[in-house]
Amino acid sequence: MLIVLLASCGPQCDCYDPLIHGQGADADADTDMDTDTDCDTDLDTDGESSDYDLLIQPIWTVNCVACHGGDQPVRNLDLSVGHSHEAMVGVTAEQVDMPLVTPGSADDSYVWHKLQDTQGSLGDETGVAMPDKFPALDDDELKLIGSWIREGAEP
Ligand code: HEC
Repeated sequence: MLIVLLASCGPQCDCYDPLIHGQGADADADTDMDTDTDCDTDLDTDGESSDYDLLIQPIWTVNCVACHGGDQPVRNLDLSVGHSHEAMVGVTAEQVDMPLVTPGSADDSYVWHKLQDTQGSLGDETGVAMPDKFPALDDDELKLIGSWIREGAEP
C-alpha cells in the first residue's frame, strides 16, 4: 500500500508531503503543512484577488510607488495598493486633457503614453517618460498593462 501511495504521488507531485507517507506522523501536523505551504494556493484561497491585484498592482508597487505613494504622492497620483485603480481609471491627467486610463483603449490612456515615451506627441507640458529615474518597464510588464487596459481595465 505504501508503495502504491508513493508511486501515485511522489516528489513530482506538487502537493507531495513526505510526512503523510512517513510512519507514525501526527495527523494534525500533516494537515497544516499540506494546506499552508506545500500546495501554493495562498494567492487564490480568499477568492478576492483579481488579475489587477496579482499582475498589475505589483508593477506599480515596485516601479512607481516610491514617488507616487506615501503622504504626498507626486502629482497627487497615488499608485499604492488600494488607491491606484481609482486614481487612474477614468481620471483626467494633469498634463493633458486625456484620462490616465481609458478602459478599452491604450492609445487614449495617458499612462500608456508615459510608459512608452510617446507623451511628447500629445502636448508641450508632458514631461518625461515614466518611471522617472528608474529603468523603463520591460516588454512583459508593458504587455500586461496594455492587455489590462484593452480588456477593460477591470479592478
Ligand atoms: C522618481 C520618481 C518617480 C517615479 C519612480 C515615477 N514617477 Fe511618475 N512622475 C514623477 C514626476 C516628478 C512627475 C511630473 C513630471 C513629469 O511628468 O515628467 C510624474 C508624472 C507622472 C504622470 C503624469 C500625471 C498627470 O496627471 O499628468 C503619470 C501618469 C505618471 N507619472 C505615472 C507614473 C507611473 C505609471 C510610474 C511607474 C511605472 C511612475 N510614474 C514612476 C515622478 C516619478
